[in-house]
Amino acid sequence: MWEYTNKVQQHFMQPQNVGEVENPSGTGDVGSLACGDALKLTIKVDNDIIVDAKFKTFGCASAIASSSVLTEMIKGMPVDEAAKITNEDIAEALGGLPKEKMHCSVMGREALEAAIADYRGVILPMAQGEVICECFGVTDLDVIRAIQESGLRSVEEITNFTKAGGGCGKCEDRLRATLQQTVEGLTEKSTPAKVQRMTTLQKIKKIEQVLEREIRLTLKKDGGDIELVDVDGDFVMVALRGACAGCHSSRTTLKEYVEKKLREQVVDTLIVEEAR
Ligand code: FES
Repeated sequence: MWEYTNKVQQHFMQPQNVGEVENPSGTGDVGSLACGDALKLTIKVDNDIIVDAKFKTFGCASAIASSSVLTEMIKGMPVDEAAKITNEDIAEALGGLPKEKMHCSVMGREALEAAIADYRGVILPMAQGEVICECFGVTDLDVIRAIQESGLRSVEEITNFTKAGGGCGKCEDRLRATLQQTVEGLTEKSTPAKVQRMTTLQKIKKIEQVLEREIRLTLKKDGGDIELVDVDGDFVMVALRGACAGCHSSRTTLKEYVEKKLREQVVDTLIVEEAR
Protein backbone atom coordinates (compact mmCIF):
# COMPACT_ATOMS: atom_id res chain seq x y z
CA MET A 1 0.00 0.00 0.00
CA TRP A 2 1.32 3.44 -0.88
CA GLU A 3 1.76 6.11 1.73
CA TYR A 4 0.50 9.55 0.79
CA THR A 5 1.53 12.78 2.48
CA ASN A 6 -1.09 15.03 4.07
CA LYS A 7 -0.62 17.48 1.20
CA VAL A 8 -1.41 14.79 -1.38
CA GLN A 9 -4.49 13.74 0.56
CA GLN A 10 -5.61 17.35 0.95
CA HIS A 11 -5.30 18.06 -2.82
CA PHE A 12 -6.99 14.78 -3.66
CA MET A 13 -9.93 15.37 -1.30
CA GLN A 14 -10.29 19.06 -2.21
CA PRO A 15 -8.66 19.64 -5.59
CA GLN A 16 -8.11 23.28 -6.53
CA ASN A 17 -8.78 24.91 -9.91
CA VAL A 18 -10.75 22.10 -11.50
CA GLY A 19 -12.23 22.83 -14.92
CA GLU A 20 -11.14 24.77 -17.99
CA VAL A 21 -10.10 28.39 -18.33
CA GLU A 22 -12.36 30.32 -20.68
CA ASN A 23 -10.59 31.33 -23.92
CA PRO A 24 -7.24 29.91 -22.77
CA SER A 25 -3.94 31.37 -23.96
CA GLY A 26 -2.47 27.87 -23.95
CA THR A 27 -3.68 24.29 -23.60
CA GLY A 28 -1.66 21.23 -22.66
CA ASP A 29 -3.31 17.87 -23.36
CA VAL A 30 -1.17 14.90 -22.34
CA GLY A 31 -1.63 11.20 -21.70
CA SER A 32 -4.65 9.32 -22.99
CA LEU A 33 -7.62 7.55 -21.53
CA ALA A 34 -6.44 4.37 -23.24
CA CYS A 35 -3.19 4.56 -21.24
CA GLY A 36 -5.01 5.12 -17.96
CA ASP A 37 -3.92 8.72 -17.25
CA ALA A 38 -4.85 11.92 -19.01
CA LEU A 39 -4.47 15.57 -18.09
CA LYS A 40 -5.72 18.74 -19.73
CA LEU A 41 -4.21 21.95 -18.40
CA THR A 42 -5.44 25.34 -19.60
CA ILE A 43 -3.71 28.62 -18.79
CA LYS A 44 -4.63 32.27 -19.21
CA VAL A 45 -1.65 34.54 -19.78
CA ASP A 46 -1.64 38.31 -19.49
CA ASN A 47 1.52 40.31 -20.11
CA ASP A 48 3.55 37.09 -19.91
CA ILE A 49 2.15 36.29 -16.44
CA ILE A 50 -0.04 33.21 -15.89
CA VAL A 51 -3.11 34.80 -14.37
CA ASP A 52 -5.29 31.69 -14.29
CA ALA A 53 -4.86 27.92 -14.59
CA LYS A 54 -7.31 25.04 -14.43
CA PHE A 55 -7.11 21.31 -14.99
CA LYS A 56 -9.17 18.26 -15.83
CA THR A 57 -7.65 14.89 -15.20
CA PHE A 58 -8.46 11.22 -15.47
CA GLY A 59 -6.20 9.39 -13.10
CA CYS A 60 -5.38 8.31 -9.59
CA ALA A 61 -5.11 10.33 -6.37
CA SER A 62 -1.52 11.31 -7.20
CA ALA A 63 -2.50 12.55 -10.66
CA ILE A 64 -5.28 14.70 -9.19
CA ALA A 65 -3.04 16.04 -6.42
CA SER A 66 -0.13 16.75 -8.82
CA SER A 67 -2.41 18.65 -11.21
CA SER A 68 -4.09 20.58 -8.41
CA VAL A 69 -0.86 21.68 -6.73
CA LEU A 70 0.63 22.57 -10.13
CA THR A 71 -2.18 25.04 -10.86
CA GLU A 72 -1.56 26.67 -7.47
CA MET A 73 2.18 26.88 -8.16
CA ILE A 74 1.88 28.59 -11.54
CA LYS A 75 -0.91 31.09 -10.88
CA GLY A 76 0.67 34.55 -10.75
CA MET A 77 4.00 33.23 -12.11
CA PRO A 78 5.80 34.68 -15.17
CA VAL A 79 5.72 32.21 -18.06
CA ASP A 80 9.55 32.06 -18.17
CA GLU A 81 9.60 30.99 -14.51
CA ALA A 82 6.82 28.44 -14.95
CA ALA A 83 8.74 26.93 -17.87
CA LYS A 84 11.51 25.99 -15.43
CA ILE A 85 9.25 23.90 -13.15
CA THR A 86 10.35 20.27 -13.04
CA ASN A 87 8.44 17.17 -12.02
CA GLU A 88 10.61 17.05 -8.91
CA ASP A 89 9.31 20.55 -8.00
CA ILE A 90 5.73 19.30 -8.29
CA ALA A 91 6.45 16.23 -6.15
CA GLU A 92 8.25 18.41 -3.61
CA ALA A 93 5.28 20.80 -3.39
CA LEU A 94 3.23 17.77 -2.34
CA GLY A 95 5.72 16.78 0.32
CA GLY A 96 6.78 13.87 -1.88
CA LEU A 97 5.09 11.14 -3.90
CA PRO A 98 5.46 7.35 -3.66
CA LYS A 99 8.22 6.38 -6.14
CA GLU A 100 5.75 4.27 -8.11
CA LYS A 101 3.66 7.42 -8.64
CA MET A 102 6.37 9.80 -9.87
CA HIS A 103 4.94 9.54 -13.38
CA CYS A 104 1.99 11.66 -12.16
CA SER A 105 4.34 14.57 -11.48
CA VAL A 106 5.94 13.98 -14.89
CA MET A 107 2.50 14.18 -16.49
CA GLY A 108 1.94 17.53 -14.73
CA ARG A 109 5.24 18.91 -16.05
CA GLU A 110 4.48 17.64 -19.55
CA ALA A 111 1.05 19.30 -19.53
CA LEU A 112 2.63 22.56 -18.37
CA GLU A 113 5.28 22.39 -21.09
CA ALA A 114 2.61 21.67 -23.69
CA ALA A 115 0.42 24.58 -22.50
CA ILE A 116 3.38 26.99 -22.56
CA ALA A 117 4.45 25.71 -25.98
CA ASP A 118 0.90 26.25 -27.22
CA TYR A 119 0.93 29.80 -25.83
CA ARG A 120 4.32 30.48 -27.44
CA GLY A 121 3.39 28.80 -30.72
CA VAL A 122 6.26 26.31 -30.68
CA ILE A 123 6.15 22.57 -31.30
CA LEU A 124 7.44 20.28 -28.60
CA PRO A 125 10.19 17.81 -29.50
CA MET A 126 8.62 14.78 -27.85
CA ALA A 127 6.24 14.36 -30.78
CA GLN A 128 9.27 13.37 -32.87
CA GLY A 129 10.42 10.52 -30.67
CA GLU A 130 10.00 6.89 -31.60
CA VAL A 131 7.43 5.01 -29.53
CA ILE A 132 9.18 2.24 -27.63
CA CYS A 133 6.42 1.36 -25.18
CA GLU A 134 3.23 0.76 -27.09
CA CYS A 135 1.13 0.06 -23.99
CA PHE A 136 1.60 3.63 -22.76
CA GLY A 137 2.69 5.45 -25.92
CA VAL A 138 6.07 6.41 -24.41
CA THR A 139 8.80 7.51 -26.83
CA ASP A 140 12.55 6.97 -26.64
CA LEU A 141 12.99 10.72 -26.08
CA ASP A 142 10.59 10.61 -23.11
CA VAL A 143 12.68 7.80 -21.63
CA ILE A 144 16.06 9.44 -22.33
CA ARG A 145 14.87 12.69 -20.79
CA ALA A 146 13.60 10.95 -17.66
CA ILE A 147 16.91 9.06 -17.31
CA GLN A 148 18.97 12.23 -17.74
CA GLU A 149 16.86 14.58 -15.62
CA SER A 150 16.04 12.26 -12.76
CA GLY A 151 19.20 10.15 -12.74
CA LEU A 152 17.32 6.87 -13.30
CA ARG A 153 19.39 3.70 -13.17
CA SER A 154 16.99 0.77 -13.61
CA VAL A 155 14.06 -0.28 -15.78
CA GLU A 156 11.91 -0.25 -12.64
CA GLU A 157 12.73 3.42 -12.08
CA ILE A 158 11.95 4.20 -15.73
CA THR A 159 8.54 2.58 -15.21
CA ASN A 160 7.94 4.65 -12.08
CA PHE A 161 8.68 7.89 -13.91
CA THR A 162 7.22 7.22 -17.36
CA LYS A 163 4.95 4.16 -17.00
CA ALA A 164 6.93 2.53 -19.86
CA GLY A 165 7.31 -1.16 -19.12
CA GLY A 166 4.39 -1.22 -16.68
CA GLY A 167 2.06 -3.15 -19.01
CA CYS A 168 2.80 -6.22 -21.10
CA GLY A 169 6.54 -5.87 -20.51
CA LYS A 170 7.43 -6.38 -24.21
CA CYS A 171 9.47 -3.16 -24.25
CA GLU A 172 11.74 -4.10 -21.36
CA ASP A 173 14.74 -5.03 -23.53
CA ARG A 174 14.54 -1.74 -25.40
CA LEU A 175 14.20 0.18 -22.16
CA ARG A 176 17.27 -1.58 -20.79
CA ALA A 177 19.24 -0.83 -23.96
CA THR A 178 18.15 2.83 -23.93
CA LEU A 179 19.13 3.08 -20.28
CA GLN A 180 22.55 1.61 -20.93
CA GLN A 181 23.23 3.80 -23.97
CA THR A 182 22.08 6.94 -22.17
CA VAL A 183 24.05 6.28 -19.01
CA GLU A 184 27.16 5.46 -21.03
CA GLY A 185 26.61 8.52 -23.19
CA LEU A 186 26.39 6.37 -26.30
CA THR A 187 23.11 7.74 -27.61
CA GLU A 188 23.29 10.64 -30.00
CA LYS A 189 19.72 11.55 -29.24
CA SER A 190 18.96 14.46 -26.99
CA THR A 191 15.91 16.31 -25.84
CA PRO A 192 16.32 19.86 -27.09
CA ALA A 193 14.41 22.60 -25.32
CA LYS A 194 12.62 23.53 -28.49
CA VAL A 195 12.12 21.75 -31.75
CA GLN A 196 13.61 23.43 -34.79
CA ARG A 197 10.94 22.32 -37.25
CA MET A 198 8.77 25.36 -37.73
CA THR A 199 7.41 26.65 -40.97
CA THR A 200 8.70 30.10 -41.96
CA LEU A 201 5.28 31.53 -41.26
CA GLN A 202 5.18 29.99 -37.78
CA LYS A 203 8.68 31.32 -37.13
CA ILE A 204 7.81 34.87 -38.21
CA LYS A 205 4.60 34.83 -36.18
CA LYS A 206 6.45 33.64 -33.10
CA ILE A 207 9.23 36.21 -33.51
CA GLU A 208 6.62 38.95 -33.82
CA GLN A 209 4.91 37.72 -30.65
CA VAL A 210 8.14 37.75 -28.63
CA LEU A 211 9.06 41.21 -29.95
CA GLU A 212 5.60 42.55 -29.14
CA ARG A 213 5.00 40.91 -25.79
CA GLU A 214 8.41 41.24 -24.26
CA ILE A 215 11.18 43.06 -26.10
CA ARG A 216 9.26 46.16 -27.25
CA LEU A 217 7.76 46.60 -23.77
CA THR A 218 11.26 46.65 -22.28
CA LEU A 219 12.70 49.04 -24.87
CA LYS A 220 9.76 51.42 -24.68
CA LYS A 221 10.46 52.03 -21.00
CA ASP A 222 13.61 53.90 -22.12
CA GLY A 223 11.99 55.60 -25.11
CA GLY A 224 13.25 53.03 -27.63
CA ASP A 225 11.54 50.62 -29.98
CA ILE A 226 12.24 47.82 -32.43
CA GLU A 227 10.68 46.63 -35.67
CA LEU A 228 10.96 43.35 -37.50
CA VAL A 229 12.21 43.99 -41.04
CA ASP A 230 12.78 40.53 -42.48
CA VAL A 231 13.37 36.88 -41.63
CA ASP A 232 15.62 34.88 -43.95
CA GLY A 233 16.25 31.37 -42.64
CA ASP A 234 17.91 31.87 -39.26
CA PHE A 235 18.71 35.54 -39.94
CA VAL A 236 16.35 38.02 -38.27
CA MET A 237 16.70 41.60 -39.53
CA VAL A 238 15.47 44.25 -37.10
CA ALA A 239 15.44 48.04 -37.09
CA LEU A 240 16.01 50.01 -33.92
CA ARG A 241 13.81 53.05 -33.43
CA GLY A 242 13.49 55.97 -31.03
CA ALA A 243 16.19 56.28 -28.38
CA CYS A 244 17.66 52.90 -29.42
CA ALA A 245 18.48 54.20 -32.93
CA GLY A 246 20.88 56.85 -31.67
CA CYS A 247 22.46 54.83 -28.91
CA HIS A 248 25.56 53.47 -30.69
CA SER A 249 27.35 52.22 -27.55
CA SER A 250 24.54 49.90 -26.44
CA ARG A 251 23.75 48.43 -29.86
CA THR A 252 25.86 45.32 -29.38
CA THR A 253 24.30 44.66 -25.96
CA LEU A 254 20.85 45.25 -27.40
CA LYS A 255 21.47 42.86 -30.28
CA GLU A 256 22.66 40.23 -27.81
CA TYR A 257 19.60 40.79 -25.62
CA VAL A 258 17.16 40.44 -28.55
CA GLU A 259 19.03 37.41 -29.90
CA LYS A 260 19.03 35.73 -26.47
CA LYS A 261 15.27 36.24 -26.02
CA LEU A 262 14.47 34.98 -29.52
CA ARG A 263 16.75 31.98 -29.12
CA GLU A 264 15.14 31.10 -25.79
CA GLN A 265 11.59 31.39 -27.03
CA VAL A 266 11.62 30.64 -30.75
CA VAL A 267 14.59 28.70 -32.18
CA ASP A 268 18.02 28.49 -30.59
CA THR A 269 19.93 29.05 -33.85
CA LEU A 270 18.55 32.50 -34.71
CA ILE A 271 21.01 35.30 -35.57
CA VAL A 272 19.87 38.88 -35.14
CA GLU A 273 21.19 41.54 -37.51
CA GLU A 274 20.44 45.24 -37.55
CA ALA A 275 18.98 46.56 -40.80
CA ARG A 276 20.82 49.65 -42.06
S1 FES B 1 5.02 -2.26 -24.70
FE1 FES B 1 5.80 -1.39 -22.87
S2 FES B 1 4.66 -2.32 -21.31
FE2 FES B 1 3.78 -3.12 -23.12
